[in-house]
Amino acid sequence: MSASPDKVMALARRRGILWPSFEVHGKVAGFYDYGPAGTAIKRNVLEVWRRTFVVEGGLLEIDTPSVTPYDVFEASGHVEEFTDLMAKCGSCGSFQKVEGLLDGIHPNPGTLTEADVGPVLADVKCPDCGNIDWSSSEFNLMFSTAIGPEGGRKGFLRPETAQGIFVNFSILYRLARERMPFGVAQVGRGFRNEISPRQGPIRLREFNMAEIEFFVDPDEAAYPPLSEHLEVVFNLVPAGANPVEMTAGDAIKKGLVCSEYLMYFMARTATFLETVGIDRGRLRFRQHEENEMAHYAEDCWDAEIETSYGWIEVVGIADRSAYDLQAHIDHTGKELKAMRRLEEPVEMRVRKVVPVMKQLGRTFRSDAGIVAEALGTVDPDAATGKLVIEVDGRTFEVPPECYEVSDTVETVNVERFVPRVIEPSFGIDRIIYSALEHAYREEDRDGEPFTVLSLSPEVAPWKFGVFPLVSDDGIVAIATSIDAELRTAGVDTIYDAAGSIGRRYARMDEIGTPFCITVDHDSLDDSSVTIRSRDDRTQVRVPVEGLMQFCLNLIKGEGP
Ligand code: GLY
Repeated sequence: MSASPDKVMALARRRGILWPSFEVHGKVAGFYDYGPAGTAIKRNVLEVWRRTFVVEGGLLEIDTPSVTPYDVFEASGHVEEFTDLMAKCGSCGSFQKVEGLLDGIHPNPGTLTEADVGPVLADVKCPDCGNIDWSSSEFNLMFSTAIGPEGGRKGFLRPETAQGIFVNFSILYRLARERMPFGVAQVGRGFRNEISPRQGPIRLREFNMAEIEFFVDPDEAAYPPLSEHLEVVFNLVPAGANPVEMTAGDAIKKGLVCSEYLMYFMARTATFLETVGIDRGRLRFRQHEENEMAHYAEDCWDAEIETSYGWIEVVGIADRSAYDLQAHIDHTGKELKAMRRLEEPVEMRVRKVVPVMKQLGRTFRSDAGIVAEALGTVDPDAATGKLVIEVDGRTFEVPPECYEVSDTVETVNVERFVPRVIEPSFGIDRIIYSALEHAYREEDRDGEPFTVLSLSPEVAPWKFGVFPLVSDDGIVAIATSIDAELRTAGVDTIYDAAGSIGRRYARMDEIGTPFCITVDHDSLDDSSVTIRSRDDRTQVRVPVEGLMQFCLNLIKGEGP
């Protein structure tokens, strides 16, 4: 029998994976708690993510705050653009997200605007009261907050971790030793005040994201690491065209995917999703329609997974062009740029912000030197009027008489440019839900129903159940020592001495534990134990000597 959200979520709750938050006070839609098993699954998924992208991909990982000042999201365009079209029912007062309301009614509800949605809603009944009385408006999805005791500075809970990376570009570029391309990763919470979240853990108001901002030279189209992934096969759904199955190499050759960087991250994403247990047959990459894209994107391919909620977007792989860095340059006057060496030195008009030391000395006294140095980093094209400069956490307001913008002709061998950004952005909760659904199966064993969660060993919250068959002192001593040794080796185990062995296996099957080790009477004589596999229920006898290595191989997929 197949999985359904109700069945998967019932198991998730029963076994401590996931449940709605705040239930004792009446739950609030869009918030879920991870229980002990769920927290372990999340940690394991993120470990695979870090290994695939941060370690193997050589990225820098950072961690920036969730609370973000207003100015950051004003600059990034989120204050103006990060909206969903909302419909309000005049009859019962409920709010509906237009995209959800028109799902299955309109071919592409995500592309509708406030101006053209009215006639489309004219025949649509309110799902809550059944009447038709709609008004519509754009709703900004960011949670706003106020920073400080008097709320002097407005802020938001970040809807994406990306901006924490963009605003740190200069530091990160230096830490990347000023080499392009380079990538920065961030794992953390994102917040979106969804209008009417109805799809359980799929649409959350507070969620777990893992994002990469990969900075590239816009003049450099080739990305050699792609050559190792040209044979990866994809189900592709290009915008406005029929779905097609194709290798990465062919998709690039035929121009279906027009960036080697996008293709590289699509290939790595496919591998990552497969490793955490997503069925490749139920994974596709769909290109956004022109009018579906986020305000910052020039091209975007979503990794979508088929679940009983339909095809759900779990990863967005976007080409954000130079949009964000340029937006922060425009709003701050800071030079968030990289450098490239020119093939030949050229004579170039060079604009510079030059300190007027006499005025600086009068205004800033002993700080004049550090302000003068900081002026050298200000973008000359954005330098007008009073400049606000931050140095080592201190803010200086530099009046216009303290600097000049000079134009000279110099021979230069480098030029500055604003990098292009390729952004793979992962919705970790959706990936976890999809992995649970793809792992879920029900079995009939001699007329008795059993549920099995075939999680990949890497993702399973516990890798081994360790059982003494009976409470004999000798048997218990061997079992507890195996359990302790596995834990010391960093392997998560569950020690279970309660109930029949069949019940104990069933509990492990349901929580996804791939292997169980049983110590029995024979173990006392032959120093061997039984290892039982969750997926095919086969059992092998393994000597206690060498058991650790055997177990470590098993969880790496190197089976008996
Ligand atoms: N950073 C990608 C997103 O917000 O969806």
